[in-house]
Amino acid sequence: MQEKILILDFGSQYTQLIARRVRELNVYCEIHPFNKIPEIDSFTKGVILSGSPASVRQADAPQVDFNQFHGKLPLLGVCYGAQYIAQHSGGNVAPSEIREYGRANLEYIHVSNPLMNELPVRSQVWMSHGDTIKEIPDHFEIIASTDTVKVAAYQIKGTQTYGIQFHPEVTHSTDGKQLLQNFLIDICGCSQDWTPFAFADTSIQELKDQLKDDKVVLGLSGGVDSSVAALLLHQAVGKNLHCIFVDNGLLRKNEFESVLHSYQDLGLNVKGVDAKQRFYDALQGLSDPELKRKAIGRVFIEVFDDEAHQISDVKWLAQGTIYPDVIESVSVNGGPSATIKSHHNVGGLPDFMKLKIVEPLKSLFKDEVRRVGKALGLPDDILGRHPFPGPGLAIRILGDITPEKVAILQEADYIYIKNLKDAGWYDKVWQAGAIYLPIQSVGVMGDERTYENVVALRAVSSVDGMTADWSHLPYDLLAKISNDIINNIKGINRVVYDISSKPPATIEWE
Ligand code: XMP
Repeated sequence: MQEKILILDFGSQYTQLIARRVRELNVYCEIHPFNKIPEIDSFTKGVILSGSPASVRQADAPQVDFNQFHGKLPLLGVCYGAQYIAQHSGGNVAPSEIREYGRANLEYIHVSNPLMNELPVRSQVWMSHGDTIKEIPDHFEIIASTDTVKVAAYQIKGTQTYGIQFHPEVTHSTDGKQLLQNFLIDICGCSQDWTPFAFADTSIQELKDQLKDDKVVLGLSGGVDSSVAALLLHQAVGKNLHCIFVDNGLLRKNEFESVLHSYQDLGLNVKGVDAKQRFYDALQGLSDPELKRKAIGRVFIEVFDDEAHQISDVKWLAQGTIYPDVIESVSVNGGPSATIKSHHNVGGLPDFMKLKIVEPLKSLFKDEVRRVGKALGLPDDILGRHPFPGPGLAIRILGDITPEKVAILQEADYIYIKNLKDAGWYDKVWQAGAIYLPIQSVGVMGDERTYENVVALRAVSSVDGMTADWSHLPYDLLAKISNDIINNIKGINRVVYDISSKPPATIEWE
């Protein structure tokens, strides 16, 4: 069993960031909604109460049954969490005279306090609150203040209960990591043994215990998540893991062959399925992006179902679900909301979906998936690949799809990506791809007039794909890519660069 920190979420936008910071210190943690506290066992080393968009002064403020851990385990309240503890211990929380958002400086820091250990005498912190702790009870001690917030941090005297008004998880809190380390290591006594190697060892053992000699089927996409899931399962059940990698005819140039070879080199039991024609047939005449997506999704399920049926006696379907997909989101205004993703074995689904589900990555954030992949020896070209949409090039060919258009776009994309890699730009952008536009324009090549199609190039910087900015690729590089594409690909006589951010545009054009 793994020692852990419990983070109780009151709906703050920063809760996942707290978890990321805790895990960066090699301490495992779990986020749970404030009103669904899991069993607190001897492996739980401490509890963190998150911030919240709510106010403790509201009649319907989120309430937590904290007798389960208050006074029994180390406890750190952050923002709302700190106010909540203060108010429930006899303190007074009131609206701030000025609402405080952004940078502030801790001016007075009680550096001999265990939570403040190693902090400088002054420290920049990030504030984001409308309420403030006006009065604290006698058994509280102030351990840090700013010019305007007297109770910026406190300890309940003689206990391991602390509250901080600022957000240590935000990088603008320059000593936030040190403070969290003080709490996790010195106060909670965590042993910092949550590493990618340790995760891999534990999870392989758990998968062995769970799956025993059962057969498992997994759809590989060439992306990081399904690849790492496959490696973990492979180490747990070996040849009983049956991987299926479908060529939908919408992958990038040579992608199917090269990714298939990588998987085979890793020793995976993988079957490559050439289903190009089934996808092209289903896409024929479809121009609407959503209809294209639906057709591709439907055919994928049919192909996967056919293949899964050929493996006798399969018991499990493995999925590359990651932690952000399973964290229950908390809505303090409308009550806790439902889980984002769930898998129900209901009627009407294809047979493979009625299998039991195993999700080896469901406790990992995306960057942790990469680190585990690296620990398991996943090659850099798979680990560092840009995200690629499931419907593939179908949503980068505007309008209807033909094998000819796919071939042209594969070439353009290949030239584009190769140039990015050669120039050292591939790893600097979050995602890049070429788009085939359904318009023709006039050009001149030699002495001849041409009337050919346009390719758009897209490259973006982003953290999670939710928002994105266009990458400022050097003009010289764009000039070379444009020349290479127009000179080498018959059917393209014009290249344009997309300089739209998301929002209001999206990353893909469809
Ligand atoms: P947008 O275009 O919504 O893309 O800004 C955000 C991220 O999602 C990917 N994307 C998809 N991925 N199926 C997928 O698996 C889809 O239908 C799909 N549409 C967009 C996109 O590549 C980007 O990484």
